[in-house]
Amino acid sequence: MSGHGTPRPLISRKASPLRGEALVPGDKSISHRSLILGALAVGETRVTGLLEGEDVLATADAMRAFGAGVTHEGDTWVIQGVGVGGFAEPEAVIDCGNAGTGVRLIMGTMATTAITATFTGDASLRSRPMGRVTDPLALFGAASYGRDGERLPMTVVGAKDPVAIRYTLPMPSAQVKSAVLLAGLNAPGETVVIEPEATRDHTERMLRGFGAHVTVEDSAEGRVITLTGYPELKPQVIAVPRDPSSAAFPVCAALIVEGSDILVPNIGLNPTRAGLFETLREMGADLTYENTREEGGEPVADLRAKFSPDMKGIKVPPDRAASMIDEYPILSVVAAFAQGRTVMRGVKELRVKESDRIDAMAQGLRAAGVTVEEGPDWWEVEGRGPDGVPGGCRAEARLDHRIAMSFACLGMATKEPVTVDDAGPIATSFPLFQDLMSGLGAQFELASE
Ligand code: S3P
Repeated sequence: MSGHGTPRPLISRKASPLRGEALVPGDKSISHRSLILGALAVGETRVTGLLEGEDVLATADAMRAFGAGVTHEGDTWVIQGVGVGGFAEPEAVIDCGNAGTGVRLIMGTMATTAITATFTGDASLRSRPMGRVTDPLALFGAASYGRDGERLPMTVVGAKDPVAIRYTLPMPSAQVKSAVLLAGLNAPGETVVIEPEATRDHTERMLRGFGAHVTVEDSAEGRVITLTGYPELKPQVIAVPRDPSSAAFPVCAALIVEGSDILVPNIGLNPTRAGLFETLREMGADLTYENTREEGGEPVADLRAKFSPDMKGIKVPPDRAASMIDEYPILSVVAAFAQGRTVMRGVKELRVKESDRIDAMAQGLRAAGVTVEEGPDWWEVEGRGPDGVPGGCRAEARLDHRIAMSFACLGMATKEPVTVDDAGPIATSFPLFQDLMSGLGAQFELASE
């Protein structure tokens, strides 16, 4: 699972008008959480719509290594949970591949059980900071020993006598929040997480769904989330909604490819995730919500996206960043085809994702003829209008699925093709991306190298 083997370059040429329906895969965040909470319930959890991408499959393997049963019967994933505190000590190193969500949530989950586990991942994951998770886990009583202090490979020694904690998030991170809440499951009393900026709330929602006692209050300090330890989690039947972060790619491609009109059905529009769509509409995108409804307590709609030649650059409100944090790379592509400047501030977290996403996008966009300015926690893209981006460049994916997909979409509307140096990472979150986009009208070619 560590690394993606031989690079697979992808050439993206000017697309035909995009037409049809884009059935994007299941939500990555909800898929990881379904497997982990299923593993902590007592009995059999059944999950449909699970994202069968490499990141989530690594979490499924990890749950098996900690003693849960994970199998699939056709499209239904069946998880035999071991109960809160029931994790066994794994016999081998846990390889989480490219998945920050996987490794951070699993570390949290095992940190309050008296077992030891060693984690690793691919070159991208091994370079990412883990101190943000191991700092609060140390307060529970867990110890960690990582390369360079806070990098994988890392061994976590779970607390024998965990104590519940009260923790204010130093950065807006749903992964850190979730790691603390999952650790709190096996600690006595109340674990409290305070988040000054709201981040995606799938863990809180799903914990409640499994029967844990979780309260959320707004206070002057931010959202205060309180979890009562030692719940008996009851197995669930879960239908994972389609991923808004994956929907972003066909939606944005349709906005920039002349003549496009596509439907992207069944997209979860949880307000902690839907910031991109709001931003695109403010830019003047022809993006509408059809058949708006509620499913499993989450707002859901079918998205219709049409070619939008009159988009304008905007200042994206920094307080919206958490609700669209994974969407800035593809937003920067749309911004290149708008008129005027798009300003993105308060986005320091982009520098510690699967790659430094500001640097990765800035370099590729500049090579494609777009002016980009950047600072430690901001960047700005100067739009060149709907038919104004030259392209004709090679862009680096840097082991980052969202960077690879963003550049593939860029080439769909540039004058000259864009080559993505490695399409391999796309399989972490969107295994059928090339097929789905080609079915709509993309002109992709996998080059041999
Ligand atoms: C995720 C949280 C975000 C996001 C990631 C998925 C999650 O990361 O970028 O793709 O499922 O909790 P951070 O918590 O580091 O912001």
